[in-house]
Amino acid sequence: MDVELRPVLESDLPTFYAHQSDPVACAIAGFPSRVQTEFFAHWHRILVDPGVKCRAIVADDVLVGNVVAFGLDGHREVGYWLDRPQWGNGIATAALRAFLAIELLRPLHGNAAVTNLGSIRVLEKCGFRLDHADSQRVGLVLD
Ligand SMILES: CC(C)(COP(=O)(O)OP(=O)(O)OC[C@H]1O[C@@H](n2cnc3c(N)ncnc32)[C@H](O)[C@@H]1OP(=O)(O)O)[C@@H](O)C(=O)NCCC(=O)NCCS
Repeated sequence: MDVELRPVLESDLPTFYAHQSDPVACAIAGFPSRVQTEFFAHWHRILVDPGVKCRAIVADDVLVGNVVAFGLDGHREVGYWLDRPQWGNGIATAALRAFLAIELLRPLHGNAAVTNLGSIRVLEKCGFRLDHADSQRVGLVLD
């Protein structure tokens, strides 16, 4: 599968909104979905924030998700979201690897629910190591 990153377009937002509205994905990720107005306001802030780097993930010419790096509590964090029918095809791993070549700030942190084994595995495959964990969430870091 051909996986590419490109800048996020305003016209991508309805598709991202649909991806993050999936209750199964939200339960696994441990994040509540945002209501539509809140979601669009959030992305409109992101798109003009010079401290945020975001890319759309395109697999075989289909928009399948996004990957984002941002500042949080004094450190740099990465996050990503993929449309559920696309899971399990190596897309997130390929997308994060490509993103790490353009997001160069280190250390870079990743954070996942302890039950989100797919996300933890994606981070590990991209070189992140375990940093901390509690009963709810696991933090990994790329030095
Ligand atoms: C997490 C997410 C990005 C993974 O995307 P993906 O394209 O399926 O990931 P990949 O196919 O590149 O890799 C997934 C890896 O996790 C493994 N995996 C997936 N589910 C697993 C599970 N339940 N137990 C163990 N391993 C699991 C896969 O086998 C694969 O590892 P492998 O290549 O060694 O076999 C996707 O599920 C998603 O968008 N989820 C909703 C949003 C989310 O959780 N974002 C991250 C917030 S921290």
